[in-house]
Amino acid sequence: MSENTETVALAFSGGLDTTVCVPLLESEYDYDEVIGVTVDVGQPDEEFSEARETADALGLDHYVVDAREEFAELCLSAVRANADYQGYPLGTALARPVIADAILEVAQREGCTAIAHGCTGKGNDQLRFEAVWRASELDVIAPVRELGLTREYEMEYAAERDLPVEGGNEGAWSIDTNLWSRSIEGDDLEDPSYVPPESIYEWTSSPGGVETELVEIGFEDGYATSIDGEQIEPVALIETLNELAGAHGIGRTDMMEDRMLGLKVRENYEHPAATVLGVAHEALEGLVLTANERATKTTIDQEWSENAYQGLLSAPLVDALEGFIDTTQTRVTGSVTVKLEGGHARAVARESEYAVYSESAASFNTETVDGIEQADATGVAKYHGYQDRLARGAIASDDQDAVVSPTHSDDD
Ligand code: ARG
Repeated sequence: MSENTETVALAFSGGLDTTVCVPLLESEYDYDEVIGVTVDVGQPDEEFSEARETADALGLDHYVVDAREEFAELCLSAVRANADYQGYPLGTALARPVIADAILEVAQREGCTAIAHGCTGKGNDQLRFEAVWRASELDVIAPVRELGLTREYEMEYAAERDLPVEGGNEGAWSIDTNLWSRSIEGDDLEDPSYVPPESIYEWTSSPGGVETELVEIGFEDGYATSIDGEQIEPVALIETLNELAGAHGIGRTDMMEDRMLGLKVRENYEHPAATVLGVAHEALEGLVLTANERATKTTIDQEWSENAYQGLLSAPLVDALEGFIDTTQTRVTGSVTVKLEGGHARAVARESEYAVYSESAASFNTETVDGIEQADATGVAKYHGYQDRLARGAIASDDQDAVVSPTHSDDD
């Protein structure tokens, strides 16, 4: 006898939060039907089997959307912006708008009137999902946050109703994995003074176990397109580099992260491919961009990263930032060789037809280049630091002959 014949689409992982959301959306929010949507952004297979099994046990209509290609392309766009938030290459953050879009598409196609997530009121993901969804006509629901649920309450609630929550992902750490990064947080790691055991890492080996290796990354317009001279699609490119650099222990981050709501959290990440691509891309920019472009781009990149962290990639500001980024990247074509050794990735060679570099001008062995000769620097050298010398009283302000002999009129 329900008056409500409405359907809600739930972002579904099969974990505790989203599992308890299913009955709650029916009992507390009066929806007739809940559909679960899991979006593939490169999580490990076990996560999909867990989601599928839990959905089956709940009798939940379950949709899986493959968004790996789209996500990989976004990650490679992020490299063009040297994406980095306080040392974190933004794996979880970049994935959220992709996931939110994919779920919204299913919700609209299936005629849902609402869309829901299982995030708590403490993290960033609630804000990232809702920034996308609130631009649609659908109602947005966050049961865990709105009903003020705690983890203990959810466990009890699940036990009372015999909900399937004994999944494989309920270990000590809270883990979020996608193509771009693996994030590990919670439990003992919440104590900033706790030294993480090696066992938290899955993508990276302890540095030092393998021999130094060189890898050459090719870029076109700032997009990474090849490894060691072979063209490779974005998903495979990222997977290949994760494996290759992970074996050298490259791409571990242990940091205090300032979340959007103002809380600090201790985060650990693994991101081998992101580290190698970041090092290579910055090295290529170093060769082809002018000093002024590089200086300005640092600010633009930081602003882009801040917006990406906040899940605001649809902001008009981001379009404007990308206008600048696109213009600079037209010359970021070429290749960079990166040395992988003992936990570090270091650019050791770079080449591009757009190099803003004259070997003969920089060389110690040539006298005159493009009509400029060594002695031309003398005047510059005399002026360099002149104001500082005046300020320090090293020279009298009217004793300008000590520096250079300008022809000046008394009134200037
Ligand atoms: N703090 C990171 C972010 O907001 C990642 C959080 C990932 N979640 C997790 N359960 N490990 O982007």
